[in-house]
Amino acid sequence: MVKPDGVQRGLIGEIVSRFEDRGLKLVAGKFMQIDQALAEEHYGEHADKPFFDGLVDFITSGPVFAMVWEGADATRQVRKMVGETDPAESPAGTIRGDLGLDLGRNVIHASDHEDPGSNEREIDLFFDDDELVDYERVD
Ligand code: CMP
Repeated sequence: MVKPDGVQRGLIGEIVSRFEDRGLKLVAGKFMQIDQALAEEHYGEHADKPFFDGLVDFITSGPVFAMVWEGADATRQVRKMVGETDPAESPAGTIRGDLGLDLGRNVIHASDHEDPGSNEREIDLFFDDDELVDYERVD
């Protein structure tokens, strides 16, 4: 998901291009405003963290662009392309390493490949089944 800072900075196209260029297939995309309830559910695992309220405020502060990408080992590959949580610790070449500097405003969220089922859970939170489109990507 391109976060509000990424949307405001005009980075949707750049981020979509990176995943397309890598060979991943876009199967769903939604430009939307996250409400308080969805934000609290999405970030539920961080509910006891000191930064939780700020995180919810930030993710609801403006529109996001939610996406579903498909491909071999897609969740792990996307995480590698996204970089570390803290952009300042993300290597050059990663999305956060190239496009961000601020831990709170870190441009993009991606499902955690080390948390089994997090990708399915997040897809279900943001998309109805009929919003996932089946087609063939030709390389
Ligand atoms: P994200 O990948 O969306 O998942 C949880 C988010 O919490 C993370 O990106 C950061 O934006 C945010 N986050 C993690 N640690 C901190 C922190 N110490 N202070 C503020 N925000 C944080």
